[in-house]
Amino acid sequence: MTEFNYHNPVMLEEVLSFVPPKKLTYLDLTLGRAGHAQNILKKIKKGSTFIGVDCDDDALIYSKENLKEFDKKDNLNFIHSRYAEVFPILRERGFTGADFILMDIGVSSPQFDDPKRGFSYRYDSDLDMRMDPKDKLTAKDIINSYSEKELCRVFRDLGECHSYYPVVKKIINARLVKPINTTFELVDIIKSGLPRKELNEKGHPAKQFFLGLRYEVNGEIRELTKGLEEAIQFLNPSGRLVIISFNSEEDRIVKTIFKKYTTKAPIDKYHPLLEEKEPEFVALTKKPLLPTEKEIEENNRSKPSIMRSLERKKLAR
Ligand SMILES: C[S@@+](CC[C@H](N)C(=O)[O-])C[C@H]1O[C@@H](n2cnc3c(N)ncnc32)[C@H](O)[C@@H]1O
Repeated sequence: MTEFNYHNPVMLEEVLSFVPPKKLTYLDLTLGRAGHAQNILKKIKKGSTFIGVDCDDDALIYSKENLKEFDKKDNLNFIHSRYAEVFPILRERGFTGADFILMDIGVSSPQFDDPKRGFSYRYDSDLDMRMDPKDKLTAKDIINSYSEKELCRVFRDLGECHSYYPVVKKIINARLVKPINTTFELVDIIKSGLPRKELNEKGHPAKQFFLGLRYEVNGEIRELTKGLEEAIQFLNPSGRLVIISFNSEEDRIVKTIFKKYTTKAPIDKYHPLLEEKEPEFVALTKKPLLPTEKEIEENNRSKPSIMRSLERKKLAR
């Protein structure tokens, strides 16, 4: 366990506005420190069922403590799993669907602020970046063993870095001399490979490189794509899902998946007699919601948040 134990839940008011004040089954796929969960459990009716999922053991340990007051009133369940893999486990345990699902994706403040976890380019630490410390692959493994082609994929496709190639070249040359072990060693190499113009741009020059690495270590894009689809299908009739993502790359994926589930399937011109199928889901946010200026002022980390929500329609009678 770590001494880093606080996470300020982002866009809390907006999340709560989608939660019906009823007795329901609430599935939190990214429990963190249960910041959202505590407030949602306060709003929903006593006797609800709560399932909290996280792939980081620390998150589950602290959340159990933070949710102690609901222990007797509600049926609390905690599952250590990646969220994209949790649905068969849920079904095995007899949960057939949820009325409210929250996905607040990415890393939590305790993970980011603990230098030992190696997520941040602001602290000098071992290159790690695993959300689940029991996973094998670390950022150090990637930096020191991936081929030039694979590193280009990580930084170009996942990190959406502009000048990734000169940085990859610098990494390959540096690791011929000695392994690259720490975040600061990597930051220096990134800076040495970037053109002056990019070094002078706003924001930390290593930001997108660290993001690409983090995505690769934790399979985050795959998790988001698979996990969101599974979560939508797990909604009960009238059930709602709220997802908070943290950059345009993630939101593009959310938007595409939401569109697939909330728009009519196009008429098949080879089978004109087939009727256009009504979508089973409706988007509750036509446009994504963003944090208010007040929230950003109080919690700067909320700034990049992008929220969308959808609902499964009621069963036709
Ligand atoms: C942004 S935090 C959530 C914070 C939480 N809403 C709160 O208010 O305390 C994201 C959490 O999701 C977890 N997480 C990220 N990706 C995951 C995945 N694929 N499967 C399971 N948990 C994941 C992280 O370990 C982290 O604890």
